Amino acid sequence: MSATDTTPRTGDGAAGDRETPVVELRNVHVVFTSRTGSLFRANRVHAVNDVSVQVRRGSTLGIVGESGSGKSTMAKVLVGLQAPTEGEIRFRGTAVSKYTADVRRRVGRVVSVVFQDPATALNARMRIRDALRDPLDVHRVGDAASREARVRELVHLVGLPESALDALPGQLSGGQRQRVAIARALALEPDVIVADEPTSALDVSVRAQILNLLADLKAELDLGMVFISHDIQTVRHVSDEIVVMQGGRIVESGPAARVLDDPQDDYTRTLLAAAPALL
Ligand SMILES: Nc1ncnc2c1ncn2[C@@H]1O[C@H](COP(=O)(O)OP(=O)(O)O)[C@@H](O)[C@H]1O
Ligand SMILES: [Mg+2]
Repeated sequence: MSATDTTPRTGDGAAGDRETPVVELRNVHVVFTSRTGSLFRANRVHAVNDVSVQVRRGSTLGIVGESGSGKSTMAKVLVGLQAPTEGEIRFRGTAVSKYTADVRRRVGRVVSVVFQDPATALNARMRIRDALRDPLDVHRVGDAASREARVRELVHLVGLPESALDALPGQLSGGQRQRVAIARALALEPDVIVADEPTSALDVSVRAQILNLLADLKAELDLGMVFISHDIQTVRHVSDEIVVMQGGRIVESGPAARVLDDPQDDYTRTLLAAAPALL
C-alpha cells in the first residue's frame, strides 16, 4: 500500500528512526472540570498529573494502576484524542501544539488504539470486510483492488478465517471481535498500538490468546506497544518497561523485570501482593 500512499507522515522525518520516540509525553497534566459540583465550585479532577513517558518501536510499555488512576485518559492523550491541559506531547520528535482535524488524522495513522470492549468499538451493522476497509477508504489508501487485498491480509494477520469477512460483529465471539478490532487498528500500518485493557472484557479462556497475538504482532511488525491493564500480572507478560499509576501520577517506572522483582514503591508492592490473576 505504500506505493500509492501519498499522505504525509507526522513529524519531520524520523520515520524508521529508532532513537526518537514515536510518541512522547513531557510533564503532561489533564484536568477535567465538570458542572456536577455546586454552582460556584465546579468539580475538578486531576486525571493525569505530571506524567512523562516515551514509546518506541519494538518496545512494549505497560501501564498498570487501579480503576480511576488515569490510565485511559493517558491513552487518549497518547493517541491524540485528548489534549493535555498542561505539558507537551511530541510525535516523532515534533511537539504538537494544536489539535486540528488534520493533526488528529496524521497522528491517528501513526498511533492507533484498541479499546477494552470490541462490541462497542465495532459498528454492529457493518460487516467485518467493511469495518476493515473503512480506515483505508477514509485515508484514501490505494485503489479498490489493493484495499480488498489489504483487508484479506489483515484477517490472516490476526488469525481469522476469510469467511469472517462476511460476518457481522454479533455473529463472532468476543475473542474474534477483539481480533477484528486489532486488525482494524493495524489497517493503516501504524508505528504504535495503544491497547487499553484489551482483554478485560473477554472470557478468561481467550485472554491469553489475545495477549499472545498482540505480542506476536509487536514482534512481527516491529510495533511500539502501550499495554494498559489494572492487573499487574497481565502487564508483566508483555511489557519491556512498566509504569505504575496511582491517582493520576506515575509512582514507579522502569524495566519490567526490575519493577516486578524489586519494587521500590509501596503501591507497586500492594498490586503485586494482590491475589494473582489468571491473565
Ligand atoms: N471526560 C471526563 N470528564 C470528567 N472526568 C473524567 C473524564 N474522563 C475521566 N475522568 C475522571 O478522571 C479520572 C481518571 O479516569 P480514567 O483515565 O478513565 O482512569 P482509568 O482508565 O485508570 O480507570 C477518574 O476520576 C475519572 O472519573
Ligand atoms: Mg480505563
